[in-house]
Amino acid sequence: MPGRDFAPKVIAFCCQYCAYSAADMAGSMRLQYPAEVEIVLIPCTGRFDVILALRAFEKGADGVYVAGCLEGNCHFLDGNIRARKRVDYLKEGLASVGVEPGRVRMYNLSASQGPRFAEIAGEFVRDVASLGPFRDAGPLGGPDDGTGPEGTDGKMTTQSQQARGTPAGTGRETP
Ligand code: FES
Repeated sequence: MPGRDFAPKVIAFCCQYCAYSAADMAGSMRLQYPAEVEIVLIPCTGRFDVILALRAFEKGADGVYVAGCLEGNCHFLDGNIRARKRVDYLKEGLASVGVEPGRVRMYNLSASQGPRFAEIAGEFVRDVASLGPFRDAGPLGGPDDGTGPEGTDGKMTTQSQQARGTPAGTGRETP
């Protein structure tokens, strides 16, 4: 059965306000959540882009989730609303090429929801584990062999630098 012994790699794009604060609280409360979750800090989920998720998959992620402030509480007004639309768009795109849309999800949290953050992380890792590795998921699966459109020098694009939490330079939109 897929996923029984499989530890998926999961990237969590967390906005620096509520979601990251919730993650921080989970850590302060010493709540356990799966080590497979790698948190990538973004200024606001409004900075989340489909390309970020696709690059994460290309680099070996099996699942990606976006965690932002509660709806109505985004520090940049509607970043989390726009992020949800992008997540929905990405799910549709994945489904259209035979990849399980459950590999992508959007969550909304308040800064005080440390326990909820830990719960979400566990829930998502379990769900992705049940889907199995992304490389088996369809035509988009497979490791990054360095032969993609960015060439073979191992340099990342601006979008990937954002995913790594490094300065992004000029993005095409503000949060
Ligand atoms: Fe948290 Fe926009 S600042 S989602």
